[in-house]
Amino acid sequence: MCGIVGYIGNAPEEHLLHGLEVLEYRGYDSAGIAVIHHGKMSIYKEIGRVANLKGKVIETEEFGAGIAHTRWATHGKVSLQNAHPQLSQNKDIAVVHNGIIENYNLLKEQLLKNGVKFDGDTDSEVIAKLFKDNLSIQTLKEVIDRLEGSYATLVVSKNENRIYFARNKLPLYLTKTSQSIILASDPMCFINQSKDYYDIGDGEYGYADLNSIKIYKNDQCVRKKKNKISFNIKTLANKEFNHYMLKEIYQSKDALINILENYKKKKIIKILNHIASIDTDKIYLIGCGTAYHAGLIGKTYLKKYLKKEVECVLASEFIYQNNIITNKTLCIFISQSGETADTILALKHSQKFGAKTVCITNVTYSSLATLADFTLPIYAGVERAVASTKAYFAQCIILYILARKMAGRRYLANIKKFLHEIDFSDDSLIQKLATMIYSKREIFFIGKSVDFITCEEASLKLKEISYINSQAFACGELKHGTLALIDNKKLIIVIATQSQLLNKVLSSASEIKSRGGQLVLFTPLSLTPQIKKIFKVIIPIKQAEEDFMPLQTILPLQKLAYFTAVKKGNDPDMPRNLAKSVTVE
Ligand code: F6R
Repeated sequence: MCGIVGYIGNAPEEHLLHGLEVLEYRGYDSAGIAVIHHGKMSIYKEIGRVANLKGKVIETEEFGAGIAHTRWATHGKVSLQNAHPQLSQNKDIAVVHNGIIENYNLLKEQLLKNGVKFDGDTDSEVIAKLFKDNLSIQTLKEVIDRLEGSYATLVVSKNENRIYFARNKLPLYLTKTSQSIILASDPMCFINQSKDYYDIGDGEYGYADLNSIKIYKNDQCVRKKKNKISFNIKTLANKEFNHYMLKEIYQSKDALINILENYKKKKIIKILNHIASIDTDKIYLIGCGTAYHAGLIGKTYLKKYLKKEVECVLASEFIYQNNIITNKTLCIFISQSGETADTILALKHSQKFGAKTVCITNVTYSSLATLADFTLPIYAGVERAVASTKAYFAQCIILYILARKMAGRRYLANIKKFLHEIDFSDDSLIQKLATMIYSKREIFFIGKSVDFITCEEASLKLKEISYINSQAFACGELKHGTLALIDNKKLIIVIATQSQLLNKVLSSASEIKSRGGQLVLFTPLSLTPQIKKIFKVIIPIKQAEEDFMPLQTILPLQKLAYFTAVKKGNDPDMPRNLAKSVTVE
């Protein structure tokens, strides 16, 4: 995680701050900048959001060079000392770093023995302190040769208007315009500045100034092709809504429209046909968090239509499970960002055993998309809020398309029908429920079959942004232990969308009611007055075709998490301790 940006040109402070704003989704524990004008280096650091730093930086129109960082703390608490840039011993060289230096303890011990003093507790500071008093391509190479772990790093010295860089496992991009050089963790920073960019590869390092760009790997000069900027930043502005999260929940419908438009194009159909023609005897779906939950929904589609062995695995567990992977295995990786370290590792692992790999992502230039054999874009548009909403919706739709396509069935007409059935539920009802739950310490969700998956996703969303401890349980599991938690202070949200399972779900609800628990129901089903009496609140959901009910149902539950977080005074877009892109294992 963490976002890094470098800039050489006029008004460096303004450009660096803009870059940090674009990269803030990667972490917002602290932010900092080092800027060089006329051989003098100024350092600015602040705890928390980029907005805090913005007020402190003295902006100039003058030419200069600088580097900047927005942090998601891994090693060392959130403090000014641990904020980047980190400085060399003589304070002439500044470093920003995204990643984890795994051998930092050993390196730190060696440096301490040599009398080097440390200001903070980060692994990143070791990189800065490894530079003695001079920065050159040789000293950069000497330093990175001693590092183990992952890094995208930028280094400047007060003696020159040049930025040195190195990358291992984490993204780093570079662009040159007629008057500037920009380096960043995400090429989104280049929009409106440049039309193309270089993707710095693993093991590559070099330097850039206004006269030249040099990129090396293993001491050899590397010639690189430029990538075109084919994405836009349209959805970054947020005028009509108080928060990106609410806007993005509503944008699920736009994602569906984009999918309908793009998944009839030849280019995508060709990819789908390729995947459908793969001879496979086992399918794995792999992702983290919400993307994993999309995988669970995808598993229900693939099993229903394909009738093949399908397993859905957490990416962070995948490589440790002795999974059977052969050249007849199809691994489908789901990731909004395409930069999730655990998912990338799982993909590389599966490729070692000859598996065919598909990636379902929102970011088609991401590391995951670059590594996978096939990429299926989800067309959700930029997702800014840390809690994933529209991407989940779109991932599930793509998995539906893939399952239908692999089974030789049509998909567009059903999705088109669903487009007209999407319903975001009545805000006032959900706000009332949020008022009921926001002061609770604990909430449980229960459901059966596919509704249990929706419970898991709803529960994750609620805890992530409201900080209320919430847990999801399969109805049938209650009596095997969980029922012990129920008393008259507990509130349980029941999800019941399948009429054939209603009686079983109601039995579980009654068992809870008998023990004093308060019940809330989300359902599209019509109920008798007797059944209605079991529940304190009933939130009606509009009926849609069975395959799309998990999507219809998650919309009001995402809104419930949102309104609860707002009611608690939390920022739903940037929940504490989290970041949008999880680029460390
Ligand atoms: C939860 C959430 C996370 C992500 C997870 C994977 O709201 O957003 O659980 O789903 O970190 O991220 P991606 O999809 O970028 O791989």
